[in-house]
Amino acid sequence: MGKVYAAILAGGSGTRMGNPDKPKQFWMMGERPVIVHTVEKFCLVAEFDKVIVLAPQAWLQQTQDIMNQHLPQFADKIALVAGGAERNDTIMNAIDYIEREHGLCEDDIIVTHDAVRPFVTFRIIEENIAAAREHGAVDTVIPATDTIVQSVDGQFITQIPNRAEYYQGQTPQSFNVVRLRKLFQELTDAEKSVLTDACKILVLKGEDVALVSGDVSNIKLTYTNDMRIARAMIAEDRADNA
Ligand code: CTP
Repeated sequence: MGKVYAAILAGGSGTRMGNPDKPKQFWMMGERPVIVHTVEKFCLVAEFDKVIVLAPQAWLQQTQDIMNQHLPQFADKIALVAGGAERNDTIMNAIDYIEREHGLCEDDIIVTHDAVRPFVTFRIIEENIAAAREHGAVDTVIPATDTIVQSVDGQFITQIPNRAEYYQGQTPQSFNVVRLRKLFQELTDAEKSVLTDACKILVLKGEDVALVSGDVSNIKLTYTNDMRIARAMIAEDRADNA
């Protein structure tokens, strides 16, 4: 069976969070930085051969220091690599690393996950691995809770689609490594410019992407209010475990 890799995407700058001096993945959540919470979850899953952490070039040294300080027991399992300009470039950097260090095999799987979704569950990770092995491409989603309103001009409603058919995309998104890279390389620059996530690479090419159920608690830290919620969730977990 092929190898299983995790790619923790921490190459972003977090402009919507404010404080551009320090990307949100390095903010404290409880007693540890956000990125530590996320990376630890993946390190604890035995199936992963490597957990590849992708950070901005300017933050590589700090990231290494943070990993050494908080997760020294996983030093052999973690590989630190520079992220790219766009999120999908960051994923491609992870694949280049795999090819360079381990070689690419046809059955290898990559589980890509936002560093800023620290509440991902073991159930979600395990189901991603199983579904990626079976289907070759997987997205993690939850049913849309709010009605989705489409407006093309931002002034008037164009349509209100049937909510039952709509989901909100989370991560992980998991793929057969060789297939993902091949399809990405085949896209034109115009196609690449409309990508908002990695699953769309396959959708644009008409390929199937299977769904795994996410969790409402698997929130993404985007705005400062999300950080307030995350800190409250962590404090509550600690109180429950006290
Ligand atoms: N990401 C990445 N490489 C990039 C851009 C984003 O690895 N070039 C990662 C981010 O670090 C984050 C995840 O992808 O963990 C989701 O990114 P998002 O929050 O949408 O983007 P950011 O660039 O971090 O934030 P913002 O859009 O507010 O600037």
